[in-house]
Amino acid sequence: MPGQPAAAAAFDFAGWTAHQLGRVEMALSSWVTADSPADLGHPMRYAVLDGGKRLRPLLVLAAAETGQPADRAASDDAATRAACAVELIHAYSLVHDDMPCMDNDVLRRGKPTVHVQFGEAQALLAGDALQALAFELLVPGDDALPAALSAHLCRQLALAAGVHGMAGGQAIDLASVGLKLTQAELERMHRLKTGALLQASVMMGAACAEVGAEQLCHLSDYGRHLGLAFQVVDDVLDVVADTQTLGKTAGKDAESDKPTFVSLLGLQGAQSYASALIDQAHAALAASQLPNTAALHALAELVGGRTH
Ligand code: IPE
Ligand code: IPE
Ligand code: MG
Ligand code: MG
Ligand code: MG
Repeated sequence: MPGQPAAAAAFDFAGWTAHQLGRVEMALSSWVTADSPADLGHPMRYAVLDGGKRLRPLLVLAAAETGQPADRAASDDAATRAACAVELIHAYSLVHDDMPCMDNDVLRRGKPTVHVQFGEAQALLAGDALQALAFELLVPGDDALPAALSAHLCRQLALAAGVHGMAGGQAIDLASVGLKLTQAELERMHRLKTGALLQASVMMGAACAEVGAEQLCHLSDYGRHLGLAFQVVDDVLDVVADTQTLGKTAGKDAESDKPTFVSLLGLQGAQSYASALIDQAHAALAASQLPNTAALHALAELVGGRTH
């Protein structure tokens, strides 16, 4: 429409996503190499490449767009490293999550799980090596990242992945089989096992782009609501979606007697809870008054409406 300001033009989320995914896939493929002792690089590449929604890297890159860094090219490079680092931690967590000692799953991202394809020892080691590689990316051997940013990103990722984040949440998950948790207990489990890494993705992206402290608080709230919503939706999809759509075996939570938001609130209750959390994520984003939040806004919509 004549006179319409350019900023009011609809955000091309599909185009944005395609561009960012290209950037992430290329970087992951170059950093996770097949060259390795005893072929360990093969299960690593198998676990990381050709699959996954890449939600965490997209959150990093979307959050990095909300800042106004002094050096945009350097900020973009940092954000690419952070995006890949969180995806490597996520991929490692999936490899271990699927192992017989944890969820004992045979299908992931539409393929046999890593331990089914390569054996348990290779799966364990591939997960270990992916975790180490994530931190290596954040500490480049040259001066590609300022030392303070590098240390900050490492700390955020370590906190989200460790005993008070993903690993701790996974421990609660395994200790809760057959138990009936309260809503507060279930929330804590989900916030740790899944929410922490999603929230860290947002915060790491923002750090790469020098977002100010006050606005970071709002982004932290956005990531916190979105992170919990994501796992509530995962619980819902385990019940309502089929194995082919999910690329992982449907119905596993009930079969394994895991407490979930569906077992606690019922299907409709869990669905409404997820959409209330997405509304809260949108509200936090609006409260930040940051520019360029269209991608973060669209990613929250995606999490609420996802079908796999
Ligand atoms: C699956 O995560 C594990 C959970 C934390 C629920 P995703 O649904 O993001 O898995 P991919 O990366 O798309 O395969
Ligand atoms: C896994 O949660 C969370 C992780 C840290 C990997 P789930 O066990 O529910 O994930 P899926 O359903 O196997 O993907
Ligand atoms: Mg699990
Ligand atoms: Mg699982
Ligand atoms: Mg699940």
